[in-house]
Amino acid sequence: MLQPGHDPSSTSQLRALWQERAASRGDQLNAVLLARLPTVANNALHEWHCRVIEREVLAYLSEGAEVLDLGCGYGRITERVLQARPDLRLTGIDFSIEFSGMYKRRTGAPAICADVSRLPFPPHSFDAILAITVLMYIEPAHVAAVVRELLDRLRPGGILLMIDPASEYISIARFFGGSKMPTGGDGFSLTSYNSLAAGRPHRVGGMPFLSACLPLALVLRRFPRLTRTILAFAARVDRLLPWGRRITLHRWLRVKGEARRL
Ligand SMILES: C[S@@+](CC[C@H](N)C(=O)[O-])C[C@H]1O[C@@H](n2cnc3c(N)ncnc32)[C@H](O)[C@@H]1O
Repeated sequence: MLQPGHDPSSTSQLRALWQERAASRGDQLNAVLLARLPTVANNALHEWHCRVIEREVLAYLSEGAEVLDLGCGYGRITERVLQARPDLRLTGIDFSIEFSGMYKRRTGAPAICADVSRLPFPPHSFDAILAITVLMYIEPAHVAAVVRELLDRLRPGGILLMIDPASEYISIARFFGGSKMPTGGDGFSLTSYNSLAAGRPHRVGGMPFLSACLPLALVLRRFPRLTRTILAFAARVDRLLPWGRRITLHRWLRVKGEARRL
């Protein structure tokens, strides 16, 4: 459902920016991750996303479960999910016609070209919803309503996983000269992530050590092998010590839908 107060002109501007990005960058990681980061750093971020999805969602899904890839882009997430769990049934939704076409071609899964604020699915349609760096583009005043609609599309016991930039980290990056992306999207604070769970069982996690090391990729551009080793080490430390949810570039929120009916 379109949320009250939703400004359609800003949605069409945002869609145009994403269409442009899809047309200019295609199915490269920097089309959907950080446009200015070197590939080696985007690869580390991609691997971290995939690991969180495996641990927080895939491990809990039964055979043949249905999963929605929200704001699916060209399909990097669905591709990895299907490699790990070919039994799952994935559907993508994205308001960019270019990205939804790429998604279908790359993954073989169906994709719907639509706005995530107007979900074209009835309640209880999915066992899991993956919202990877997409809700950050919804106007802040409407995010809670969109999340409620998403939770409504989950089957009993289903899982919603969001991954978005942490606004605390972005403020620090801007202080040191980091600039806003043309497609916008500021991310969420830890407090707003917790409140989006609206009292339901939830967990939040981050990648503090990897976040501290990622800017090194900009300095060490000419030494990708060294950068890869440092980033892999940082990701391993974050896995061993799951702390530091506040100062992190990306943060995840896992919310459980209504309990399974007995
Ligand atoms: C940063 S990219 C992430 C893509 C994908 N989730 C991934 O992680 O690879 C954001 C995606 O969300 C889509 N998007 C942004 N706002 C949207 C909206 N309101 N409705 C549908 N798609 C949207 C964009 O077209 C883009 O493909």
